[in-house]
Amino acid sequence: QESPPLYTKEEVYSHRSPETGIWVTLGSEVFDVTEFVGLHPGGPSKLMLAAGGPLEPFWALYAVHNQPHVRELLAQYKIGELNPEENVPPTLETSDPYADDPMRHPALKVNSQCPFNAEPPPELLTENYITPNPIFFTRNHLPVPNLDPDTYRLHIVGPPGGQSLSLSLGDLYKFPKHEVTVTLQCAGNRRSEMTRVKEVKGLEWRTGAISTARWAGARLCDVLAQAGHQLSETEAHVCFEGLDSDPTGTAYGASIPLARAMDPEAEVLLAYEMNGQPLPRDHGFPVRVVVPGVVGARHVKWLGRVSVESEESCSHWQRRDYKGFSPSVDWDTVDFDSAPSIQELPIQSAITEPQDGETIEPGEITVKGYAWSGGGRAVIRVDVSLDGGLTWHAADLDGEEQPPRKAWAWRLWQLQASVPAGQKELNIVCKAVDDSYNVQPDTVAPIWNLRGVLSNAWHRVHVHITP
Ligand code: HEM
Ligand code: MTE
Repeated sequence: QESPPLYTKEEVYSHRSPETGIWVTLGSEVFDVTEFVGLHPGGPSKLMLAAGGPLEPFWALYAVHNQPHVRELLAQYKIGELNPEENVPPTLETSDPYADDPMRHPALKVNSQCPFNAEPPPELLTENYITPNPIFFTRNHLPVPNLDPDTYRLHIVGPPGGQSLSLSLGDLYKFPKHEVTVTLQCAGNRRSEMTRVKEVKGLEWRTGAISTARWAGARLCDVLAQAGHQLSETEAHVCFEGLDSDPTGTAYGASIPLARAMDPEAEVLLAYEMNGQPLPRDHGFPVRVVVPGVVGARHVKWLGRVSVESEESCSHWQRRDYKGFSPSVDWDTVDFDSAPSIQELPIQSAITEPQDGETIEPGEITVKGYAWSGGGRAVIRVDVSLDGGLTWHAADLDGEEQPPRKAWAWRLWQLQASVPAGQKELNIVCKAVDDSYNVQPDTVAPIWNLRGVLSNAWHRVHVHITP
């Protein structure tokens, strides 16, 4: 019996386009699925996310593949095996502060490897109302700390005359467990659209710096109360410090107003669970802050210390970043002290399907996307145009109805439309409205700012129609 051809991972990786052929692996087996891509019941674009690499991380998200008939189908395309000699254990480069970062899901579109910043591709982002943990967007400023849950302690600084707390994970579990579905969005989401107007400083996020999870943990108000804090000072802030730090020992930090922290209705959490699992390392294991309705930057991960101060956190990320300015302000004239730190975010929406530049068939099409607003304001409507904004259709809103003033999570939406044969292109636009009747600006230029934050203009996608 002949032994099967052996391939290296690199050879497999070089086969990820129609020109080279499309290869994937499962376990040690190699498959050429070029002919199957167009037949895939889940659509070609999803299969292509795995092109040139292993199927396991994707099939872990879609259990539909754990069936004998799927395996039998795949077996027809087998062309060989992975070369076993290649499996040399990686050596740990100890001088690299990022060497100990966790493994990441290959579907993530990486905007920066070190520190790790990545977003899920649009075709996966709105597949699920709750974003699966492995593809939740990740925004790190520093290396991911590797914390031991047994020795982990959270320090809560008490008020004068009160009591400081040093809480183990076990201590935190003793507080009433509170669960809430919250969408997290980075202030830099959709920055790449601002860059097209004029250069900005920051990572090139597309539409994916936003994700939704079911978070569980102790309420911050319960923990602060135990330490003796009260809502007495009006000009007070709760400062958070992460256990991630740069080589000089400076930790990530941020703050929120004490009034929000102490309000039980605001549901601010010291979260230790994400979608029923312990927090993944990238998302703050073992404990992070979750501040519903507030910009991602305040949801401090790997939380080490909480204190109540008369001023905002002195952290760079509170005082010298994550603020909005007029389009006329540049790096020579900017005065960071003149603008408030971003807390609640404005109304936002984006199209995830179809994608810009795609070519689609005439006939029935589905336009999909997400919409969310800050401060617990509910999305009440999403308007979609197929002709660049001349005429509009109201999209169907999916997802959970949420209590008034506590709409912490996004709504996914879709619109079914028919495209007449002979039409050459579509200029798809979406815009959302929240329950304060806040709307999105129609273009990016008037909201351009030097840091590229708060990018929430109408989202526009241009698609071609096959003749
Ligand atoms: C559905 C095969 C890769 C996402 C299916 C089904 C088959 C299949 C046979 C239908 C299953 C059934 O309904 O019984 C394959 C093969 C793949 C592949 C052979 C690789 C060569 C992927 C990847 C993804 C994916 C990489 C995601 C990133 C899906 C989804 C469905 C599906 C979402 C469900 C579609 C629906 O709603 O009916 N796939 N798949 N597949 N696949 Fe895949
Ligand atoms: N917390 C710490 N300790 N370090 C960080 O770099 N990044 C912040 C915030 N909390 C950050 C942090 C920013 S800017 C965002 S948008 C969110 O975490 C991202 O959370 P995620 O990576 O879980 O999506």
